[in-house]
Amino acid sequence: MILITGGAGFIGNHICVELLNEGYDIAVIDNLSNSRKESLARVEEITGGTITFYENDLLDRSALEEIFSKHTIEAVIHMAGLKSVNDSVSLPLTYYKNNLTATFVLLEVMTEFNVKTIIFSSSATVYGKPAFNPITEDFPVSAINPYGRTKLMIEEVLADLWNADSEWSISILRYFNPIGAHPSGKIGESPNGTPNNLMPYVAKVALGQYEKLTVYGDDYPTVDGTGVRDYIHVTDLALGHVKALDKAMQGSGHEIYNLGTGEGYSVLQLVRAFESASGRSVPYEVTGRREGDVASCYANPSKAEEKLGWKAEKSITDMCEDTWRWRSHNPYGYASGK
Ligand code: WQD
Repeated sequence: MILITGGAGFIGNHICVELLNEGYDIAVIDNLSNSRKESLARVEEITGGTITFYENDLLDRSALEEIFSKHTIEAVIHMAGLKSVNDSVSLPLTYYKNNLTATFVLLEVMTEFNVKTIIFSSSATVYGKPAFNPITEDFPVSAINPYGRTKLMIEEVLADLWNADSEWSISILRYFNPIGAHPSGKIGESPNGTPNNLMPYVAKVALGQYEKLTVYGDDYPTVDGTGVRDYIHVTDLALGHVKALDKAMQGSGHEIYNLGTGEGYSVLQLVRAFESASGRSVPYEVTGRREGDVASCYANPSKAEEKLGWKAEKSITDMCEDTWRWRSHNPYGYASGK
Protein backbone atom coordinates (compact mmCIF):
# COMPACT_ATOMS: atom_id res chain seq x y z
CA MET A 1 0.00 0.00 0.00
CA ILE A 2 1.22 3.57 -0.74
CA LEU A 3 0.43 6.31 1.80
CA ILE A 4 -0.14 9.79 0.34
CA THR A 5 0.00 12.54 2.95
CA GLY A 6 -2.06 15.57 1.86
CA GLY A 7 -3.70 13.40 -0.81
CA ALA A 8 -6.96 15.37 -0.67
CA GLY A 9 -5.20 18.46 -2.01
CA PHE A 10 -5.06 19.70 -5.62
CA ILE A 11 -1.87 17.89 -6.61
CA GLY A 12 -2.49 15.00 -4.21
CA ASN A 13 -5.85 14.24 -5.88
CA HIS A 14 -4.21 13.97 -9.29
CA ILE A 15 -1.46 11.74 -7.90
CA CYS A 16 -4.15 9.45 -6.42
CA VAL A 17 -5.81 9.20 -9.87
CA GLU A 18 -2.58 8.13 -11.56
CA LEU A 19 -1.58 5.71 -8.77
CA LEU A 20 -4.99 4.01 -8.95
CA ASN A 21 -4.73 3.90 -12.75
CA GLU A 22 -1.33 2.22 -12.29
CA GLY A 23 -2.95 -0.40 -10.02
CA TYR A 24 -1.51 0.74 -6.71
CA ASP A 25 -3.40 0.21 -3.45
CA ILE A 26 -3.49 3.61 -1.73
CA ALA A 27 -4.34 5.32 1.54
CA VAL A 28 -4.60 9.06 2.14
CA ILE A 29 -4.01 10.96 5.36
CA ASP A 30 -5.19 14.56 5.28
CA ASN A 31 -6.38 16.99 7.98
CA LEU A 32 -8.65 18.71 5.40
CA SER A 33 -7.36 22.13 6.54
CA ASN A 34 -7.07 23.25 2.90
CA SER A 35 -8.91 20.50 1.03
CA ARG A 36 -12.21 18.63 0.88
CA LYS A 37 -13.07 14.97 1.31
CA GLU A 38 -15.46 15.33 -1.67
CA SER A 39 -12.43 15.48 -3.95
CA LEU A 40 -11.46 11.92 -2.97
CA ALA A 41 -14.94 10.67 -3.85
CA ARG A 42 -14.47 12.21 -7.28
CA VAL A 43 -11.08 10.51 -7.65
CA GLU A 44 -12.85 7.19 -6.97
CA GLU A 45 -15.53 8.14 -9.53
CA ILE A 46 -12.92 8.90 -12.19
CA THR A 47 -10.87 5.73 -11.63
CA GLY A 48 -13.40 3.23 -10.29
CA GLY A 49 -10.81 2.66 -7.55
CA THR A 50 -11.01 2.83 -3.75
CA ILE A 51 -9.10 5.09 -1.40
CA THR A 52 -8.61 4.28 2.30
CA PHE A 53 -8.95 7.71 3.91
CA TYR A 54 -7.82 8.93 7.34
CA GLU A 55 -8.82 12.42 8.45
CA ASN A 56 -5.83 12.98 10.69
CA ASP A 57 -3.04 15.45 11.21
CA LEU A 58 0.53 14.21 10.77
CA LEU A 59 1.30 15.86 14.11
CA ASP A 60 -0.94 13.22 15.74
CA ARG A 61 1.72 10.56 16.15
CA SER A 62 -0.53 7.86 17.64
CA ALA A 63 -2.98 8.20 14.73
CA LEU A 64 -0.10 7.82 12.30
CA GLU A 65 1.27 4.79 14.15
CA GLU A 66 -2.17 3.21 13.98
CA ILE A 67 -2.23 3.60 10.19
CA PHE A 68 1.20 2.01 9.88
CA SER A 69 0.18 -0.87 12.15
CA LYS A 70 -3.07 -1.50 10.27
CA HIS A 71 -1.57 -1.55 6.77
CA THR A 72 1.62 -2.73 5.10
CA ILE A 73 2.86 0.65 3.90
CA GLU A 74 5.57 0.20 1.24
CA ALA A 75 6.25 3.89 0.51
CA VAL A 76 5.05 7.37 1.35
CA ILE A 77 4.39 10.27 -1.03
CA HIS A 78 4.64 13.29 1.26
CA MET A 79 2.47 16.15 -0.02
CA ALA A 80 1.01 17.47 3.25
CA GLY A 81 2.08 20.99 4.15
CA LEU A 82 1.08 24.64 4.03
CA LYS A 83 2.12 26.29 0.76
CA SER A 84 1.30 29.99 0.68
CA VAL A 85 4.38 32.17 0.36
CA ASN A 86 2.46 35.22 1.62
CA ASP A 87 0.98 33.45 4.66
CA SER A 88 4.36 31.98 5.56
CA VAL A 89 5.81 35.49 5.92
CA SER A 90 3.13 36.53 8.41
CA LEU A 91 2.82 33.11 10.14
CA PRO A 92 6.34 31.61 10.23
CA LEU A 93 5.81 29.49 13.37
CA THR A 94 2.64 27.96 11.87
CA TYR A 95 4.63 27.07 8.77
CA TYR A 96 7.60 25.63 10.67
CA LYS A 97 5.31 23.57 12.90
CA ASN A 98 3.05 22.27 10.12
CA ASN A 99 5.73 21.64 7.54
CA LEU A 100 8.80 20.69 9.58
CA THR A 101 7.51 19.09 12.80
CA ALA A 102 4.91 17.10 10.87
CA THR A 103 7.64 15.78 8.58
CA PHE A 104 9.83 14.80 11.55
CA VAL A 105 6.92 12.84 13.07
CA LEU A 106 6.30 11.13 9.73
CA LEU A 107 9.97 10.17 9.30
CA GLU A 108 10.18 8.87 12.88
CA VAL A 109 7.10 6.70 12.44
CA MET A 110 8.34 5.46 9.06
CA THR A 111 11.62 4.46 10.74
CA GLU A 112 9.73 2.79 13.60
CA PHE A 113 7.89 0.61 11.06
CA ASN A 114 10.95 0.17 8.83
CA VAL A 115 9.33 2.00 5.89
CA LYS A 116 12.22 3.77 4.18
CA THR A 117 10.92 4.87 0.77
CA ILE A 118 9.70 8.45 0.46
CA ILE A 119 8.82 10.79 -2.43
CA PHE A 120 8.95 14.37 -1.18
CA SER A 121 6.99 17.29 -2.69
CA SER A 122 9.49 20.12 -2.97
CA SER A 123 9.39 23.28 -5.06
CA ALA A 124 11.39 25.36 -7.52
CA THR A 125 11.16 28.05 -4.87
CA VAL A 126 14.31 26.50 -3.36
CA TYR A 127 16.25 28.02 -6.27
CA GLY A 128 15.52 31.50 -4.88
CA LYS A 129 16.49 34.01 -7.56
CA PRO A 130 18.16 31.81 -10.22
CA ALA A 131 21.25 33.37 -11.84
CA PHE A 132 20.00 32.18 -15.24
CA ASN A 133 17.60 29.70 -16.90
CA PRO A 134 16.96 26.87 -17.61
CA ILE A 135 17.59 25.56 -14.10
CA THR A 136 19.29 22.21 -13.41
CA GLU A 137 19.20 20.34 -10.10
CA ASP A 138 22.81 21.30 -9.27
CA PHE A 139 21.96 25.04 -9.19
CA PRO A 140 22.67 26.86 -5.94
CA VAL A 141 19.71 26.74 -3.57
CA SER A 142 18.51 29.44 -1.21
CA ALA A 143 15.21 30.37 0.33
CA ILE A 144 13.73 33.86 0.33
CA ASN A 145 10.66 33.19 2.52
CA PRO A 146 9.67 30.87 5.39
CA TYR A 147 7.67 28.60 3.04
CA GLY A 148 10.72 28.12 0.82
CA ARG A 149 12.90 27.61 3.90
CA THR A 150 10.68 24.76 5.09
CA LYS A 151 11.07 23.03 1.73
CA LEU A 152 14.83 23.52 1.73
CA MET A 153 15.21 22.39 5.36
CA ILE A 154 13.23 19.21 4.70
CA GLU A 155 15.41 18.50 1.66
CA GLU A 156 18.47 18.83 3.91
CA VAL A 157 16.96 16.63 6.63
CA LEU A 158 16.32 13.95 4.01
CA ALA A 159 19.89 14.23 2.72
CA ASP A 160 21.23 13.80 6.27
CA LEU A 161 18.90 10.84 6.81
CA TRP A 162 20.28 9.19 3.67
CA ASN A 163 23.86 9.86 4.78
CA ALA A 164 23.09 8.25 8.15
CA ASP A 165 21.22 5.25 6.77
CA SER A 166 21.65 4.28 3.14
CA GLU A 167 18.75 1.85 3.32
CA TRP A 168 16.50 4.86 2.63
CA SER A 169 15.18 5.45 -0.86
CA ILE A 170 14.50 9.16 -1.22
CA SER A 171 13.20 11.04 -4.26
CA ILE A 172 12.88 14.83 -3.99
CA LEU A 173 10.67 16.38 -6.66
CA ARG A 174 11.02 20.12 -7.28
CA TYR A 175 7.77 21.32 -8.85
CA PHE A 176 7.73 24.34 -11.07
CA ASN A 177 4.26 25.85 -11.54
CA PRO A 178 1.53 23.19 -11.46
CA ILE A 179 -1.74 24.26 -13.14
CA GLY A 180 -4.55 22.61 -15.09
CA ALA A 181 -7.01 19.92 -14.02
CA HIS A 182 -7.99 16.34 -14.81
CA PRO A 183 -9.55 16.24 -18.33
CA SER A 184 -12.79 14.83 -16.83
CA GLY A 185 -13.49 18.23 -15.25
CA LYS A 186 -14.32 16.48 -11.94
CA ILE A 187 -11.25 17.52 -9.92
CA GLY A 188 -9.03 20.59 -9.96
CA GLU A 189 -7.63 23.45 -7.93
CA SER A 190 -10.11 24.78 -5.37
CA PRO A 191 -8.22 27.29 -3.21
CA ASN A 192 -9.80 28.64 -0.03
CA GLY A 193 -10.14 32.44 -0.10
CA THR A 194 -8.41 34.73 -2.58
CA PRO A 195 -5.89 32.82 -4.70
CA ASN A 196 -2.27 33.97 -4.50
CA ASN A 197 -1.33 32.09 -7.65
CA LEU A 198 -1.94 33.29 -11.20
CA MET A 199 -4.04 30.56 -12.81
CA PRO A 200 -6.78 30.21 -10.16
CA TYR A 201 -7.08 34.00 -10.11
CA VAL A 202 -7.36 34.22 -13.92
CA ALA A 203 -10.08 31.54 -13.83
CA LYS A 204 -12.10 33.54 -11.28
CA VAL A 205 -11.87 36.67 -13.48
CA ALA A 206 -13.02 34.63 -16.51
CA LEU A 207 -15.95 33.34 -14.43
CA GLY A 208 -16.87 36.92 -13.50
CA GLN A 209 -16.17 36.27 -9.80
CA TYR A 210 -13.45 38.95 -9.85
CA GLU A 211 -13.51 42.15 -11.91
CA LYS A 212 -9.94 42.03 -13.20
CA LEU A 213 -6.51 40.49 -12.82
CA THR A 214 -3.69 42.50 -11.27
CA VAL A 215 -0.51 41.94 -13.28
CA TYR A 216 2.41 42.38 -10.92
CA GLY A 217 4.84 44.36 -13.05
CA ASP A 218 5.53 44.56 -16.77
CA ASP A 219 9.09 45.93 -16.53
CA TYR A 220 10.94 42.63 -16.19
CA PRO A 221 13.63 41.70 -18.76
CA THR A 222 11.29 39.17 -20.43
CA VAL A 223 9.49 38.70 -23.75
CA ASP A 224 6.76 41.22 -22.84
CA GLY A 225 7.95 42.56 -19.48
CA THR A 226 5.76 40.27 -17.35
CA GLY A 227 6.97 37.37 -15.22
CA VAL A 228 7.89 34.11 -16.97
CA ARG A 229 7.25 30.72 -15.33
CA ASP A 230 7.39 27.02 -16.24
CA TYR A 231 3.73 25.98 -16.06
CA ILE A 232 3.27 22.22 -15.92
CA HIS A 233 -0.02 20.32 -16.24
CA VAL A 234 -0.94 18.73 -12.90
CA THR A 235 -1.55 15.38 -14.64
CA ASP A 236 1.99 15.44 -16.07
CA LEU A 237 3.24 16.27 -12.58
CA ALA A 238 1.25 13.35 -11.13
CA LEU A 239 2.69 10.96 -13.73
CA GLY A 240 6.15 12.15 -12.71
CA HIS A 241 5.37 10.98 -9.16
CA VAL A 242 4.35 7.54 -10.39
CA LYS A 243 7.62 7.22 -12.32
CA ALA A 244 9.63 8.43 -9.31
CA LEU A 245 7.78 5.98 -7.03
CA ASP A 246 8.32 3.04 -9.38
CA LYS A 247 12.05 3.83 -9.44
CA ALA A 248 12.38 4.54 -5.70
CA MET A 249 10.77 1.21 -4.87
CA GLN A 250 13.37 -0.66 -6.90
CA GLY A 251 16.20 0.13 -4.49
CA SER A 252 17.78 2.66 -2.16
CA GLY A 253 19.20 6.03 -3.14
CA HIS A 254 18.79 9.79 -2.86
CA GLU A 255 17.83 11.77 -5.97
CA ILE A 256 16.51 15.24 -6.77
CA TYR A 257 14.47 15.93 -9.93
CA ASN A 258 13.04 19.05 -11.53
CA LEU A 259 9.46 18.48 -12.67
CA GLY A 260 8.81 21.13 -15.28
CA THR A 261 8.24 21.34 -19.03
CA GLY A 262 11.42 23.30 -19.77
CA GLU A 263 9.32 26.03 -21.43
CA GLY A 264 8.54 29.44 -19.93
CA TYR A 265 5.36 31.45 -20.48
CA SER A 266 4.77 35.05 -19.43
CA VAL A 267 1.75 36.25 -17.45
CA LEU A 268 0.26 37.86 -20.56
CA GLN A 269 0.92 34.79 -22.71
CA LEU A 270 -0.96 32.70 -20.14
CA VAL A 271 -3.82 35.22 -20.04
CA ARG A 272 -4.12 35.11 -23.84
CA ALA A 273 -4.04 31.30 -23.85
CA PHE A 274 -6.76 31.20 -21.21
CA GLU A 275 -8.94 33.68 -23.10
CA SER A 276 -8.80 31.55 -26.26
CA ALA A 277 -9.40 28.32 -24.30
CA SER A 278 -12.38 29.71 -22.38
CA GLY A 279 -13.82 32.15 -24.91
CA ARG A 280 -13.98 34.63 -22.02
CA SER A 281 -12.09 37.92 -21.70
CA VAL A 282 -9.72 38.42 -18.78
CA PRO A 283 -9.41 42.17 -18.11
CA TYR A 284 -6.24 43.16 -16.26
CA GLU A 285 -4.44 46.12 -14.77
CA VAL A 286 -0.65 46.36 -14.49
CA THR A 287 0.69 47.48 -11.11
CA GLY A 288 4.14 47.38 -9.43
CA ARG A 289 6.15 44.18 -8.98
CA ARG A 290 5.23 41.74 -6.19
CA GLU A 291 7.78 41.45 -3.36
CA GLY A 292 9.93 38.34 -3.79
CA ASP A 293 9.02 37.63 -7.42
CA VAL A 294 11.73 36.72 -9.91
CA ALA A 295 11.68 37.71 -13.60
CA SER A 296 12.02 34.21 -15.06
CA CYS A 297 12.08 30.69 -13.68
CA TYR A 298 11.93 27.57 -15.84
CA ALA A 299 13.39 24.08 -15.66
CA ASN A 300 15.87 21.96 -17.49
CA PRO A 301 13.90 18.69 -16.99
CA SER A 302 16.42 16.42 -18.73
CA LYS A 303 17.47 14.54 -15.58
CA ALA A 304 13.90 13.32 -14.96
CA GLU A 305 13.58 12.49 -18.65
CA GLU A 306 16.77 10.41 -18.63
CA LYS A 307 16.55 8.78 -15.16
CA LEU A 308 12.80 8.41 -14.76
CA GLY A 309 11.77 8.06 -18.38
CA TRP A 310 9.31 10.91 -17.74
CA LYS A 311 8.56 13.96 -19.88
CA ALA A 312 5.74 16.49 -19.60
CA GLU A 313 3.47 16.04 -22.63
CA LYS A 314 0.60 18.50 -22.18
CA SER A 315 0.59 21.96 -23.76
CA ILE A 316 -0.34 25.35 -22.31
CA THR A 317 -3.57 25.03 -24.31
CA ASP A 318 -4.36 21.70 -22.57
CA MET A 319 -3.64 23.35 -19.21
CA CYS A 320 -6.03 26.23 -19.95
CA GLU A 321 -8.76 24.09 -21.54
CA ASP A 322 -8.69 21.58 -18.64
CA THR A 323 -8.73 24.38 -16.05
CA TRP A 324 -11.68 26.02 -17.78
CA ARG A 325 -13.64 22.73 -18.00
CA TRP A 326 -13.09 22.14 -14.26
CA ARG A 327 -13.92 25.72 -13.20
CA SER A 328 -16.89 26.26 -15.52
CA HIS A 329 -18.48 23.02 -14.24
CA ASN A 330 -17.52 23.78 -10.63
CA PRO A 331 -17.56 27.59 -10.29
CA TYR A 332 -17.07 27.32 -6.52
CA GLY A 333 -14.72 24.34 -6.52
CA TYR A 334 -15.96 21.57 -4.20
CA ALA A 335 -17.73 24.07 -1.96
CA SER A 336 -21.17 24.27 -3.60
CA GLY A 337 -22.51 27.82 -3.60
CA LYS A 338 -19.53 29.35 -1.80
C1 WQD B 1 3.26 33.41 -11.34
C2 WQD B 1 3.46 34.72 -12.10
C3 WQD B 1 3.50 36.65 -10.67
C4 WQD B 1 -0.71 36.31 -9.42
C5 WQD B 1 4.45 30.29 -6.34
C6 WQD B 1 5.28 29.80 -5.19
C7 WQD B 1 5.87 28.46 -5.53
C8 WQD B 1 4.78 27.51 -5.95
C9 WQD B 1 3.99 28.10 -7.12
C10 WQD B 1 4.12 26.19 -4.07
C11 WQD B 1 4.41 35.67 -11.40
C12 WQD B 1 2.31 36.69 -11.61
C13 WQD B 1 0.52 36.08 -10.01
C14 WQD B 1 -1.45 37.47 -9.77
C15 WQD B 1 0.31 38.10 -11.28
N1 WQD B 1 3.90 27.25 -4.86
N2 WQD B 1 1.01 36.95 -10.93
N3 WQD B 1 -0.91 38.32 -10.70
O1 WQD B 1 5.13 33.01 -7.60
O2 WQD B 1 5.92 31.59 -9.57
O3 WQD B 1 5.28 30.49 -7.44
O4 WQD B 1 3.46 29.35 -6.68
O5 WQD B 1 4.95 25.32 -4.19
O6 WQD B 1 6.53 27.97 -4.40
O7 WQD B 1 6.34 30.71 -4.98
O8 WQD B 1 3.52 31.52 -8.89
O9 WQD B 1 1.25 31.86 -9.70
O10 WQD B 1 2.03 33.22 -7.70
O11 WQD B 1 2.92 33.73 -9.98
O12 WQD B 1 0.77 38.91 -12.12
O13 WQD B 1 -2.58 37.74 -9.27
O14 WQD B 1 2.21 35.40 -12.17
O15 WQD B 1 4.08 37.95 -10.54
O16 WQD B 1 5.15 36.37 -12.39
P1 WQD B 1 5.03 31.76 -8.39
P2 WQD B 1 2.35 32.58 -9.01
